[in-house]
Amino acid sequence: MHLAALHTLSQIQLNQQGNLKHFLTIEGLSKESLTKILDTAQSFLDENNNLINRPLLEGLTVMNLFFENSTRTRTTFEAAAKRLSANVLNIDIARSSTSKGETLRDTLWNLEAMAADIFVVRHSSSGAAHFIAKDVCPNVAIINAGDGRHAHPTQAMLDMLTIRRETNKPFEQLSVAIIGDIKHSRVARSNVAALQTLGCKDIRVIAPNTLLPVGFNEYGEHVRLFNKMDEGVTDCDVIIALRIQNERIDSPALSSQSEFYKMYGLNKERLALAKPDCIVMHPGPMNRGVEIDSSVADGNQSVILRQVTNGIAVRMAVLALAMQGQLQEQGLIEAISL
Ligand code: CP
Repeated sequence: MHLAALHTLSQIQLNQQGNLKHFLTIEGLSKESLTKILDTAQSFLDENNNLINRPLLEGLTVMNLFFENSTRTRTTFEAAAKRLSANVLNIDIARSSTSKGETLRDTLWNLEAMAADIFVVRHSSSGAAHFIAKDVCPNVAIINAGDGRHAHPTQAMLDMLTIRRETNKPFEQLSVAIIGDIKHSRVARSNVAALQTLGCKDIRVIAPNTLLPVGFNEYGEHVRLFNKMDEGVTDCDVIIALRIQNERIDSPALSSQSEFYKMYGLNKERLALAKPDCIVMHPGPMNRGVEIDSSVADGNQSVILRQVTNGIAVRMAVLALAMQGQLQEQGLIEAISL
C-alpha cells in the first residue's frame, strides 16, 4: 500500500497520543499497536483459557449495528462488552427505519443522540466503517466488524492471538498458508496485513486463479502464491481455510463445489504434508465437505473453536483500548486503566 494511504489510515485510527480511537483496518497500524491489542487480550484470559471479566466500560454504551448477517462476530462483541460491564444495545437493522428510507447518516446521528459511546459496525459495503468514523460520528469509537470484501480487523487479531497462543513461536519463524476464496475475503486481506506487520516471513496464499484478486502483487512482501494445494501446505505451521464467499460472487468462479473440494479441500492427506504440529484454523462459517473435511475440522489439530473464545478476549481488548483512546482524545478522562 502507498505510504500516503497508510499515513491517512493511521491518522484516522489513532489519537494524538498514538493510541487507538477507532479500529477500522490493520493497515496503517504498527507492530507495537497490534502487539498491544494482543497483550491486552491475553490479560483477559487466564492460564486455563478462561475469560476474566473487568468492569472497564461501566456506564458506557456499546451499540451493535449489523447490516449483514453474523453469528460469531455479533455474539462475541456482545459477550465482550458485557464482560466489560458496558450497556449493550443490539440494533435490529432489519426492523429499523432504514427500511422506510432513512439514510445511514440520519440513523447513526439518532443513535448517537441516544448516548452511544461505541458503534460496532458490520456492513456489506467496503469502506462503510471508515465513512462513519471520518464523516458521520467521529466522536463515537467505531469498530469495524467486517465491511464488504475490504477488512475484518478483529477477526485478524483473534487469528493472530490464536496463532501466538497455540504455536508458541515468534511470527518471524512461522509459515502460514491461507487457502480458498482470497478474492472476495476480507479475512484474507486483514490476516495477510497482520502477519506482515507482526513479522511473518512466509505467507502462502493458495487458490485457483479465479479466486485470486486481480493484481495479486498488491499483497506485498513475504506473500507467495500457490495454485497447487499440496505444494502450498508442505511444511506449514498454520493453515487457515476460507469459505467461498458466494454472496459476493457475481459470476461463477468455480465449475462446482465438488471440483473445489477435489483441488483445494483440506483433508487428512493434505494436512499430513504440513508440519506434524501444524494447527488448523477457519474463521467460520464453515462449509464442511467444500473447503474442509469434517475429519480435519473436528480433528486434534483443529483450533477452530478456540478461535471463537479468543475472539471474546480480542474484542474486549479492542473495545477497551478504543474507548480509552476516544476519551483521551476528547479530554473527558485521563484514561481507562488497563
Ligand atoms: N468469522 C465471522 O465473521 O463469522 P460471522 O459472519 O458469523 O460473524
